Amino acid sequence: MLKLPGLIDPHVHVREPGQTHKEDWDTVTQAALAGGVTMILAMPNTKPPIFDEATLTLALDAAKQKTRCDYAQFLGAGPDNAEIVASLADKSAGLKMYLDSTFGELRLDDMTLWAPHFINFPKDMPIVLHSESRTMAAGILFAAIYDRPVHIAHVSLKEEILLIKAAKERGIQVTCEVCPHHLFLTSPSPNSEGIGGGQGGGRMEVRPRLATKADVEALWQNMDVIDCFATDHAPHTLAEKDSENPPPGFPGLETLLPLLLTAVDDGRLTVDDIVQKSVINPRKIFRLPEQPETWVEVDETAEYEIKAADQFSRCGWTPFEGWQVKGRVKRVFLRGKVAFEDGKVLAEKGFGQNIRY
Ligand code: NCD
Ligand code: ZN
Repeated sequence: MLKLPGLIDPHVHVREPGQTHKEDWDTVTQAALAGGVTMILAMPNTKPPIFDEATLTLALDAAKQKTRCDYAQFLGAGPDNAEIVASLADKSAGLKMYLDSTFGELRLDDMTLWAPHFINFPKDMPIVLHSESRTMAAGILFAAIYDRPVHIAHVSLKEEILLIKAAKERGIQVTCEVCPHHLFLTSPSPNSEGIGGGQGGGRMEVRPRLATKADVEALWQNMDVIDCFATDHAPHTLAEKDSENPPPGFPGLETLLPLLLTAVDDGRLTVDDIVQKSVINPRKIFRLPEQPETWVEVDETAEYEIKAADQFSRCGWTPFEGWQVKGRVKRVFLRGKVAFEDGKVLAEKGFGQNIRY
């Protein structure tokens, strides 16, 4: 039996308020616990987005009723809320800025809208950037100019990880995260059937897109540049994914640890890498408290097949359907209580705590 500290996932789309047919604070925290994750940081691209006090309260009220693991909520950077979000910083996980288009309404197209956030948001908390390729370079330059930390979400390309490496070497305050799907999946060829046996290509849609084999290899080769693993758990229902207009996003909370442990078994990663990038570094970067008496017991020898049918997420599918993995979460302790055991979530609704209060 392997004992790990409770994992922290700094990038989770909860979907509440507004899209609870995809997921809500209850199902997402059940999925988290089943995956050995005891703390999640929730993204603000909900409906409505979280961009002021009223919307933050809306999300946190729902969370308080329903969560089964610990959490904090990100604020979203909008065109005219820089002072408002800065005043709410203490109550939040941090600030998320969308510099590229994705699911939701929070994209900041106009570069003149970036500076107020870089100036106003407290400098002891990072601004998390959804940025790809050239906008990532622009975002890192802003971090240098305004002398403040940024955390780059879901790095997927070779050019991106090398850019971050170079920026770190020059002392720019940049950290980053990589998602399992960008470490374990490559972009499918145009005629392939698609992930998980999907009819169309909708199940493969994710932002950033799945990349080439060379990109994936560059991420593995630069493991020391990667500060955190993050799932970007972005559930959409199977009907939505297989529709004419499929939204981008994969669920990921329940497959994170089995995939990483399988990589450990393959000799591509160490258990210490998992602890550094899923516990110690996210705690430091986002100034998160330690969770006392919190750990995960894993059966390292258990081999099994990933099945959406076994998952707690409401979305009902996984891009890793049918994958053989080694390493099963047996039991999770959260603040001294058994929160998950042998496939059952035992933590009650409302047991989760907002770590910013
Ligand atoms: C995310 C979503 O569905 O909310 N989708 C995704 O493909 N990652 C949005 C995002 O994080 O870009
Ligand atoms: Zn995301």
